[in-house]
Amino acid sequence: MSALAALDMHVSYGNIRALRGVSLAVAEGTICAVVGANGAGKTTALNAICGLRTLSAGRVVLAGQDVTSVPPHDLVPLGLVQVPEGRRVFARLTVRENLSMGAFRRRSPRAELAAELDRVLELFPRLRERMAQLAGTLSGGEQQMLAMGRALMSRPRTLLMDEPSMGLAPQVVDQVFETILAINKLGVTVLLVEQNALMALEIAQMAYVLQSGEVVLSGPGPELLHSDAVREAYLG
Ligand SMILES: Nc1ncnc2c1ncn2[C@@H]1O[C@H](COP(=O)(O)OP(=O)(O)O)[C@@H](O)[C@H]1O
Ligand SMILES: [Mg+2]
Repeated sequence: MSALAALDMHVSYGNIRALRGVSLAVAEGTICAVVGANGAGKTTALNAICGLRTLSAGRVVLAGQDVTSVPPHDLVPLGLVQVPEGRRVFARLTVRENLSMGAFRRRSPRAELAAELDRVLELFPRLRERMAQLAGTLSGGEQQMLAMGRALMSRPRTLLMDEPSMGLAPQVVDQVFETILAINKLGVTVLLVEQNALMALEIAQMAYVLQSGEVVLSGPGPELLHSDAVREAYLG
């Protein structure tokens, strides 16, 4: 059984057909990548999966349970969380407050919250040093780490990530990818959307290439990396 499966998803914005029958299967415990050019439909696919966009056709199945059109807040307790494109941290709140917002049981005892924080901060030593800092004053890379940390506070089994490396310096991009691998090692299934096809394919057990709202190629990431079609389209 897949941790997550999207079956024949169709989404339109007016007369723009953003997804034209996209199917994805994400195996438990793996990293799955969706790559494709700007406008290919990657964000739309993630948003359709987590209930932010209405499907005109198709289904979403989470660990065997049909969750088509279930809104994001109801997916969190089921173990599915998205780290959105552009990070979207609460700029005027501190790092600590941002992380607390991610806890799924907000009214849980302080001790429980503290333990959860501690677990997440193991992955992000830079955040630990900046708990009282306002999120808006963090660097882009730190904000991305915070967005990931916040998502992890609810103990997701499956994490959706939309372009986590966007706009970051190469060295910071490396750190973000190392963190994704570390999160996956903890047992979290990852569906990763990236324009940075080279790095995403390297770490993805399974990958899909999206073009104009359709899957044009799929297979193990490293295999796609060496396919002529992908090299021509994305790697020059
Ligand atoms: N809110 C929207 N309203 C109208 N069209 C949209 C909207 N969001 C995305 N689109 C269109 O849908 C297509 C897919 O966009 P998107 O999913 O954002 O692609 P990607 O994330 O791969 O860059 C594009 O043609 C884009 O212009
Ligand atoms: Mg996008």
